[in-house]
Amino acid sequence: MAVCPRLARNWHTIPAQAPEPRGATREMQTGSMRVMAVAAARPNFMKVAPLLRELRSRDRFEVFLVHTGQHYDAAMSGHFFDDLGITRPDANLGVGSGSHGEMTAEVLKRIEPVIAEQRPDALIVVGDVNSTLAAALAAVKLGVPVAHVEAGLRSFDRSMPEEINRLLTDAISSWLFVTEGAGEENLRREGIDPSRIHFVGNVMIDTLLENLERARKLDTLERFSLTPWSYGVLTLHRPSNVDEPERLSRLFDTLEEIHEEVPIVFPIHPRTAAAIEGLLGGRPLRLLTTAPLGYLDFLRLMSDARLVLTDSGGIQEETTVLGVPCLTLRENTERPVTVTQGTNRIVGSDPDAIRGEVRKVLDGETRRGRIPDRWDGAAARRIVDVLEKDLGASQ
Ligand code: UD1
Repeated sequence: MAVCPRLARNWHTIPAQAPEPRGATREMQTGSMRVMAVAAARPNFMKVAPLLRELRSRDRFEVFLVHTGQHYDAAMSGHFFDDLGITRPDANLGVGSGSHGEMTAEVLKRIEPVIAEQRPDALIVVGDVNSTLAAALAAVKLGVPVAHVEAGLRSFDRSMPEEINRLLTDAISSWLFVTEGAGEENLRREGIDPSRIHFVGNVMIDTLLENLERARKLDTLERFSLTPWSYGVLTLHRPSNVDEPERLSRLFDTLEEIHEEVPIVFPIHPRTAAAIEGLLGGRPLRLLTTAPLGYLDFLRLMSDARLVLTDSGGIQEETTVLGVPCLTLRENTERPVTVTQGTNRIVGSDPDAIRGEVRKVLDGETRRGRIPDRWDGAAARRIVDVLEKDLGASQ
């Protein structure tokens, strides 16, 4: 099995006294409700954390955590486990990076024997990354029912790899846990049996609410010499923004111009770092650049930002809850409630549109919006209530 050489340096991939990637450290006990949870990439960890906590707080559940290793280094994975107090995975598949086909195939191949060996009563997957789809597919083929957390979101843009992952994962999942009304509507339109759909709220917001006070005590702003409400935060990693040099270069020209007026902190995703290399002919980016930040540092930064510019999905939701203006540098969103009720505006990548929307924010033309229904810190509890009832009934 090909394992990325970088993996060997990280305990999250191949822990010192831990299993080979295919293996599992322990057997799940019989007699309890046995649930396998899958985490893979940065945006998964904050979704899995409250689910693990809730499951483990109930005696009837036994939980087995699989890390697929899609994200593997400290900045994209390890720090999140530490920040969020997630226990070491029971198995780490060590898939590393690759093309979409390779990554999906490796997860499928490597998780199948783990599921077959552990025989869980249910498998929980979150979000829309390649590992979400691959793990769900392996499980259903082994007769293990799948719970998809954050189901039903649709950008209606099939050129986004995540959209394909969402559509396919939803089609084969037994429990579809949705975060907003649009998710429920989309699933019904696709012919999903309504009894499988559960509107439970947003587990990522469970994690935000749980950690906000802790994050606010950090000295993150001081480390960047920033004061509250005087700076912007930027994240960029979508293939549609960073894989095309001309588009990326135009975006940076605009953002550097904005940085002259309001400093912009830019934690750079590895995909984007690779794209930037060469693009600027060796000159440094005129933004406050930094390596990817841990969960708590990034939350601290967002919570007191004047504005956030992003192409991430999760950040659109987090800024809505924080009441911070968010300008989404994409043509669409799969999270429409952040626009209709929250602080999000879909801006795209046109320089004039970006400048115009930033101007409005700096001139105070913003709205605080409202926090969407059931984004209240209790989503994991609702999900585990449903699983406990349904799995209990089938035992
Ligand atoms: C993946 C997800 C995307 C999610 C994003 C968050 C899919 C289809 N995409 O995209 O939905 O929003 O994660 O980050 O699943 N790399 C590292 N260290 C790591 C992980 C990756 O350096 O720990 C590098 C890889 O070598 C690669 C690049 O980052 O060059 C991109 O990583 P990859 O996992 O392919 O996709 P993302 O763009 O991160």
